[in-house]
Amino acid sequence: KMWMWALWILPLLYKFSLTALPAKPENTSCILYYKKNLTCTWSPEKETSYTKYVVKRTYSYGNKRDICKANSSTGTWCSFFSPTITPPDYFTIEVEAQNKDGTVTSDITHWTLNTIMKMEPPKILSVKPILGFKKMMQIKWELYDSLFSSSNLNYTLRFRTVNSTHWVKVNFQSDDLVYNLKGLQAFTEYIVAMQCVVNGSYFWSDWSQEKMGITEEEVPSGLDLWRVLRPAEVDGRRPVQLLWKKARGAPVLEKTFGYIISYFPENNTNLTQTISTTTQQCELHLGGKTYWVSVTSYNSLGKSPVATMRIPAVGEKQ
Ligand SMILES: *[C@@H]1O[C@H](CO)[C@@H](O)[C@H](O)[C@H]1NC(C)=O
Ligand SMILES: *[C@@H]1O[C@H](CO)[C@@H](O)[C@H](O)[C@H]1NC(C)=O
Ligand SMILES: *[C@@H]1O[C@H](CO)[C@@H](O)[C@H](O)[C@H]1NC(C)=O
Ligand SMILES: *[C@@H]1O[C@H](CO)[C@@H](O)[C@H](O)[C@H]1NC(C)=O
Ligand SMILES: *[C@@H]1O[C@H](CO)[C@@H](O)[C@H](O)[C@H]1NC(C)=O
Ligand SMILES: *[C@@H]1O[C@H](CO)[C@@H](O)[C@H](O)[C@H]1NC(C)=O
Ligand SMILES: *[C@@H]1O[C@H](CO)[C@@H](O)[C@H](O)[C@H]1NC(C)=O
Ligand SMILES: *[C@@H]1O[C@H](CO)[C@@H](O)[C@H](O)[C@H]1NC(C)=O
Repeated sequence: KMWMWALWILPLLYKFSLTALPAKPENTSCILYYKKNLTCTWSPEKETSYTKYVVKRTYSYGNKRDICKANSSTGTWCSFFSPTITPPDYFTIEVEAQNKDGTVTSDITHWTLNTIMKMEPPKILSVKPILGFKKMMQIKWELYDSLFSSSNLNYTLRFRTVNSTHWVKVNFQSDDLVYNLKGLQAFTEYIVAMQCVVNGSYFWSDWSQEKMGITEEEVPSGLDLWRVLRPAEVDGRRPVQLLWKKARGAPVLEKTFGYIISYFPENNTNLTQTISTTTQQCELHLGGKTYWVSVTSYNSLGKSPVATMRIPAVGEKQ
C-alpha cells in the first residue's frame, strides 16, 4: 500500500524540485507617457519563488539597446526613463525572468511608438458663450507641451449641467484648439472636461480638469398677470393690486432685471403712465373708469411679450 502512495507522489516531488523555473513572461504591454517614461508590464504577476527580471529594449529602429531591472518584490513592471524616446520610432521588448533554478525568456514583442502613446490631458482655458449665439458655448484649450499639433489628435469632450450626474460625450477633431458646443439650454451652467488621443494610439489621456460655463440667457418669456380690486377710497380713487409671474410652463432660461407697467384710461391713451419695478407686484390707484394695464419684463437681451389686462369701470357688471 505504502509504496503505491510513494509511486504516485514521487513524480510530483521530482517535478517541483527540479523544474521550478519561472513561468515564461507573457502578455507584455507598454505605455509611453510622453516625456515621462516608457512603462511595460507582463504576466504572470505572481511567482512562487523570488524572481529577477531584466527587460531588454531596442529602440531607434533597432540601433540602440538598453535594459531595465525589476524583481518579484517590486512587481511585474518596469519603467525606462532616459533616454526619452519620441515618435516616430519603433522598439522591441524582451523580458527575461530568472530565479535560482534558471532563466526563461519571453517572446520578443514589437512596438510602434505612436500606438502606445498616452498624452497629458488638454488644459481648458475658457468655456464661454458667444454674444448673439444662444444655446452654444465656445471651449478653448491648450496642449501640454507636445510635439503633436492639434490636427494629429482626436478629442472627447464631456459635459453636464451642474445639477446633473449624467455626462454627455462628443467626439471631434480641431485644428485650432477651439470647439463650439451647440444644442445646449440657454442660461444654464455646464461643467466641461476633455481628453485627447494621438491619431493611431490605443490610449486616451486622462480627463482634464473640469471647467464651468454658463450659456447666454434668452429674452424673458411671457408673464401671467392677475389683479385684486379693492373698493374705492373717499377721494374716488381705486386701489388695484397687480401681481404677475413667469408664464406657466416657461423654462427658466433667463435672468430678469425688471418689469415695466403701463396703464391708461380706456378712452384716452394720452394719459398713459409708466412705472418700473423689480418686484413681482405693484399697487395702482386708478379712477373709476375702465383702464387697461400692461406688464413686460426685460433683461439685457430684450423684452418679453406684453401681458395686458382690462380693469372694468366701477359699477360695471362683471
Ligand atoms: C510614468 O509616468 C506616468 C505619467 O506621468 C506616471 O503616472 C507614472 O508614475 C510614471 N512611472 C514611474 C515608474 O515613475
Ligand atoms: C495572457 O493573456 C491571456 C488572454 O488574456 C490569458 O489567457 C493568459 O493566461 C495570459 N498569460 C499569463 C501568463 O497570464
Ligand atoms: C528589487 O528591486 C528593487 C528596485 O530595483 C530593489 O530596490 C530591491 O533591492 C530588489 N529586491 C531584492 C530582494 O533584490
Ligand atoms: C441646482 O441645484 C441648486 C442647489 O442644489 C439649486 O439652487 C438650483 O436651483 C438648481 N438648478 C437647477 C437648474 O435645477
Ligand atoms: C491617422 O492615422 C491613419 C493611419 O494610422 C492615417 O491614415 C490618417 O491619415 C491619420 N490622420 C491624420 C489626421 O493624421
Ligand atoms: C480620429 O478618429 C477617427 C475615427 O476614430 C479617425 O478616422 C481619424 O483618422 C482620427 N483622426 C485623428 C487626427 O486622430
Ligand atoms: C372718457 O370717459 C369719461 C367717463 O367715462 C369722460 O368723463 C371723459 O370725458 C372721457 N374722455 C374722453 C377724452 O373721451
Ligand atoms: C391726445 O393728444 C393729442 C395731441 O396732444 C390730441 O390731439 C388729442 O385730442 C388727445 N386725445 C384725447 C382723447 O385727449
